Amino acid sequence: MQKIIILDFGSQTTQLIGRRVRELNTFCEILPYNKFPQDDPDVIGVILSGSPFSVYDPEAFKIDLSTLRGRYPILGICYGAQFMSHSLGGKVEPAPSREYGRQFLSTIDTANPLFAGFEKGSQVWMSHGDTITALPAGFQCIASTDTVHYAAYQATGEALWGVQFHPEVFHSTQGSLLLRNFVVGICGSHQDWSAASFVDTTVQELRQQLGDDRVILGLSGGVDSSVAAVLLNRAIGDRLTCIFVDHGLLRKNEFQDVLHDYECLGLNVRGVDASAKFFADLAGVTDPEQKRKIIGRDFVEVFNEEARKVEGARWLAQGTIYPDRIESLNITGKVIKSHHNVGGLPKEMNLQLCEPLKWLFKDEVRRVGRQLGMPEHLITRHPFPGPSLAVRILGEITPERVRILQDADDIYIRALRQYKVRLSGDEARRVLAAGVPAQMTDGEIEVSLYDQVWQAGVILLATVRSVGVMGDERTYEHPVALRAVTSTDAMTADWAHLPYDFLASVSNDIINHVRGVNRVCYDISSKPPATIEWE
Ligand code: XMP
Repeated sequence: MQKIIILDFGSQTTQLIGRRVRELNTFCEILPYNKFPQDDPDVIGVILSGSPFSVYDPEAFKIDLSTLRGRYPILGICYGAQFMSHSLGGKVEPAPSREYGRQFLSTIDTANPLFAGFEKGSQVWMSHGDTITALPAGFQCIASTDTVHYAAYQATGEALWGVQFHPEVFHSTQGSLLLRNFVVGICGSHQDWSAASFVDTTVQELRQQLGDDRVILGLSGGVDSSVAAVLLNRAIGDRLTCIFVDHGLLRKNEFQDVLHDYECLGLNVRGVDASAKFFADLAGVTDPEQKRKIIGRDFVEVFNEEARKVEGARWLAQGTIYPDRIESLNITGKVIKSHHNVGGLPKEMNLQLCEPLKWLFKDEVRRVGRQLGMPEHLITRHPFPGPSLAVRILGEITPERVRILQDADDIYIRALRQYKVRLSGDEARRVLAAGVPAQMTDGEIEVSLYDQVWQAGVILLATVRSVGVMGDERTYEHPVALRAVTSTDAMTADWAHLPYDFLASVSNDIINHVRGVNRVCYDISSKPPATIEWE
């Protein structure tokens, strides 16, 4: 299978480059900058990503370009472009002021294959502190903005290009065209990577890999483990046993609803109600990390007990997806999000790991789910933390507090699903790229607020009481905070600008219908410096 290799020099947008390449129905792998697979016959081109470093930083990542030049078409983006120019004899210097934000290509060589179909004035997104001030001998400038002369270059007569802007971000309005020109026009991609081809080849591979073996999979109700289960079920049928643990901390009616969905999908699934154990072990615990530890430990215990009952199981399947693995491989060494596996399985079971979605991005997982005929509400479900509502109740967790939060959350999520908005421009493109099924008409799409936001939920401030008045009586009850964020990867997020009339009506509904809540706030913090969850 043809593939593009993206060498990661540590930029925040490297994953986005990967997603854009996949949107061109072309397989790609993101690898640490120094891990190029020298003997892979399927490689058709190489992209060098941006980086947090300047080429002059002593710790800047460097590679030997002679191992790539002449063997593959190369495209350097931002640092990638500066690094190539700098190492091949050009000049890179600190820009007089940081070149950041929207700019417009005032001159473009549209005869150059990288810019085929570009329009003069095309908007691009810059984000760098250094700039190229002279190109190496034999290189030519092929695009400029008013302030960045060498916005793009090519080594004349050679399949080597550099762009100082970021074609992968939405604000570069013809960025996808540039990547198409490189991946399809220059590298010759056949564009045959699709959800349908993924399902076909993966089902074949799983049958070969698993033979007649039995497989266990832990379902969470989330999209990744659900799609992994349906894919495995397609490959090996009832030899897959799914285990779905109810810790009592899921959303209102979620355990029964999702279990029913799974059964309708033909999965061989065991639902285990372990809520009493979790509530008993969480009693009196207020520290968030302690809550997480207890839930993690109890989950492993319950899961293992069930797993032991599956006779002859040889494999443990997981819905690990590509970003989970890229994050854990992050070359700058910073752990941004820890990866939540079913840890500590009993050694005597001697299970091997099977991760059929390990190459997919989230939006691709959703497309595969649709290809497999899964219901839309399972596919477009928001991410939900493993410890569930436990980290959305500040303070001690009790069944009554979970009930209050479930009721408030249910009102909020239903309302988000019902309220429709029309989106255009970058906002519409962001939502479509996340895999939301909407049709663009006259440059606009109509989606629910639920689909517009990345994640939403309610937080019960159980450690706080606020005074209120209902009828003739004073009340002294808990406030709740509503949270809704937009994001593409959960690493950064902005608070969603939900309409005032929507917030007003949800606030009314919650206060009028949920006993125990007398005040509703809306969280307007972005990440960073806040996080998505409160605990
Ligand atoms: P934060 O709060 O760190 O969340 O901005 C980023 C994303 O991760 C989810 N999250 C968790 N997921 N176990 C999980 O499985 C956890 O302990 C956990 N904490 C946060 C969060 O919901 C968001 O999607």
